[in-house]
Amino acid sequence: MALILAIESSCDETAVAISKDGTLLANIVSTQIDVHRQYGGVMPEIASRLHAENIGFVLQEALDTAKISLKDVDAFAVTRGPGLIGALHVGLQCAKTLSMLYNKPLIPVHHLAGHIYANEYIEKLEFPLLAIVVSGGNTELVYMKEDMDFEVIGETRDDAIGECYDKVARVLGLPYPGGIPIDKLAKEGKHTYQLTVPLRGEDTLDFSYSGLKTNVINLVHTLEQKNIEVNVNDMCKSFQDVAVGLILERAKKAVSIYPVKEVVLAGGVSANSYLRSEIVKVLEPYNVKVQIPPMWCCTDNAAMIAKVAEKLYEKKVFAPLSLGVDPNWRIEDYKNFEN
Ligand code: KG4
Repeated sequence: MALILAIESSCDETAVAISKDGTLLANIVSTQIDVHRQYGGVMPEIASRLHAENIGFVLQEALDTAKISLKDVDAFAVTRGPGLIGALHVGLQCAKTLSMLYNKPLIPVHHLAGHIYANEYIEKLEFPLLAIVVSGGNTELVYMKEDMDFEVIGETRDDAIGECYDKVARVLGLPYPGGIPIDKLAKEGKHTYQLTVPLRGEDTLDFSYSGLKTNVINLVHTLEQKNIEVNVNDMCKSFQDVAVGLILERAKKAVSIYPVKEVVLAGGVSANSYLRSEIVKVLEPYNVKVQIPPMWCCTDNAAMIAKVAEKLYEKKVFAPLSLGVDPNWRIEDYKNFEN
């Protein structure tokens, strides 16, 4: 165990966490959502600039909260990918600089591994495990035979589910990030619009969300052209049933194929109230434990990066200072990295 300082800057949250022997001493998150909201989504160039402006302040606040100084830190951990290339660069440069200055190891952390292991702040994970990773940039089913062993058994062939929520919200005139208002309004609506079910009838664990997104956008435009008012609550409900329905179907299929003891939700979309309640119901007959992360674990933070870093520190998985970011880093490639 060790004193670890972890940095996360893969998208629109600048975050620093400090953990000592597995206990979280600080978890500071500065979100840029208010800035990006006016564009209806994250503007990568603005995100990088804001990370560069904020990271020093976030770092100082974390040190003050934890009541430690940089020379006490045993290792500096950072999200290396996946994410926005410029945004990732800011976190990595900061971690590399600190690692060089204080002559302490640099630990490369995979963002999605972070989302999965955030659940360990609640309870230790039980393997074999199925992680349902649903976020703004990713939609994956990850099978973990054991600790830190990742196999992607299904993934989106196009858009991520969160991205689809955000685009659908935009066409309905709802604010960014779109998952939150859609989740809320769907509770007041009825499933009245018939939308295409993605990959219907295909024997696969993969996902697809671009067709569903286009389906909603075209339907809204057609109704507007005909001067027919769109019932936003009903559209939200109809869309959410299909979008989340696909996750539920894939989860059932995966646990009937793989010998899974536990299923965990991970990523921003795991904040969705319908997904959180339905996943427990649909998996009840399968005799698996279902772990729903608390809301603070769903959004991006550096505590989850520290959690993975603790494991990598024990295994001495350190990176050279020549390390670069990898915006498309696949979780399975951790193994190659370790070797
Ligand atoms: O994990 P995250 O911060 O993004 C990535 O790291 O990629 O997740 C952000 C995504 C956004 O697309 C947002 O619309 C979605 O999570 N989201 C939700 C909800 N809250 C946030 N989607 C559905 N229902 C929600 N309640």
